[in-house]
Amino acid sequence: TGTFTYDPGFTSTASCESKITYIDGDAGILLHRGYPIEQLAEHGDFLETCYLLLYGELPTAAQKKDFDYRVTHHTMVHEQMSRFFTGFRRDAHPMAVMCGCVGALSAFYHDSTDITDPHQRMVASLRMIAKMPTLAAMAYKYHIGQPFVYPQNNLDYASNFLRMCFAVPCEEYVVNPVLSRAMDRIFILHADHEQNASTSTVRLAGSSGANPFACIAAGIACLWGPAHGGANEAALNMLTEIGTVDKIPEYIARAKDKNDPFRLMGFGHRVYKNYDPRAKIMQKTTHEVLGELGHKDDPLLQVAMELERIALTDEYFIEKKLYPNIDFYSGITLKAMGFPTTMFTVLFALARTVGWIAQWAEMIEDPQQRIGRPRQLYTGEAQRDYIPVSKR
Ligand code: CMC
Repeated sequence: TGTFTYDPGFTSTASCESKITYIDGDAGILLHRGYPIEQLAEHGDFLETCYLLLYGELPTAAQKKDFDYRVTHHTMVHEQMSRFFTGFRRDAHPMAVMCGCVGALSAFYHDSTDITDPHQRMVASLRMIAKMPTLAAMAYKYHIGQPFVYPQNNLDYASNFLRMCFAVPCEEYVVNPVLSRAMDRIFILHADHEQNASTSTVRLAGSSGANPFACIAAGIACLWGPAHGGANEAALNMLTEIGTVDKIPEYIARAKDKNDPFRLMGFGHRVYKNYDPRAKIMQKTTHEVLGELGHKDDPLLQVAMELERIALTDEYFIEKKLYPNIDFYSGITLKAMGFPTTMFTVLFALARTVGWIAQWAEMIEDPQQRIGRPRQLYTGEAQRDYIPVSKR
């Protein structure tokens, strides 16, 4: 019994009020604090977007310098963290490692677990934005058996991350500015996306008063699924499986077949019923990166472009308003940059951390905040009496 509204998947329930991100799914619009994603990605950098999401306004030059310095100041992780890593099997998925390591930060930074102190909340936010690239790069290095590379704080956020991933002690590493800019843009595109599954998870976890590191670890766990952040990995695996343009019709037919669970990965979105604005910028970035690396003829890119062309003119996809989402092109780009598929969702988590933390902080500061406690429509047995095992 009960008088609750049944809304599986929360398609028509607003779980909070928020001033951070606005999406118009029918028009394909995404705004952060009112600024269009296209303008932020074209003219700004990732840390500026972080500042905007956290504080509500774009920083002045002095504020930006100070913010960049404060984030940079926290890039190292506690040295004992490196021993934590060695507890994982070498072949562990880097997302499994991230779930564990980010949650473990609560054991290293006790001061930042006091969520009642606004100053500590901000320190926790800066720590997480700063340490995620370091942890993500460590997860990657551990995975491939190379030594960890420490952060170098005179580099910008994206360049520092690329260096921690791809530098080795025996060779000089020079960051390619085109790749660094592309990485930064990919981070901007993933920074926040209002009340998606992982962000709602972070808010729900945080609503009980749990510490921010533990809440972000919960968000990472939720992001891992193939219907959410794991779609970039799944999309690239799908493009690889399709392999050649002549196989596309077969996969399109499978995606349309009600009796086949196969879906076109990187297509469709709960909110966008139009082209995902992030996918457009992502596609442009893909061309820039592949051009820079001399991979313009990458067969995966040919498959992706043809698949998109066919799907966008197909009755089924038009009727269901299924368009490419951000994950459709991001995998090709990340692969060309040298990342294995298992790292794709880790990069998404790295960038989304600022969105999670901004939404968490907004919730904590909201005077209406209460513990999240959904109700249910009970469909089980009515009350009945216990039967001793000898009589069952
Ligand atoms: N391929 C084929 N058919 C699809 C697809 C697809 N990718 N996506 C949705 N449909 C069909 C679905 O079968 C359903 O048909 P019907 O009404 O006949 O049963 C209809 O479209 C509506 O789908 P839904 O699953 O009810 O929609 P949803 O809002 O619950 O799911 C989604 C949204 C993103 C999970 C889904 O579109 C999907 O599984 N896409 C593939 C995975 C993907 O690319 N995810 C990344 C999302 S963007 C980044 C992120 O959030 O992390």
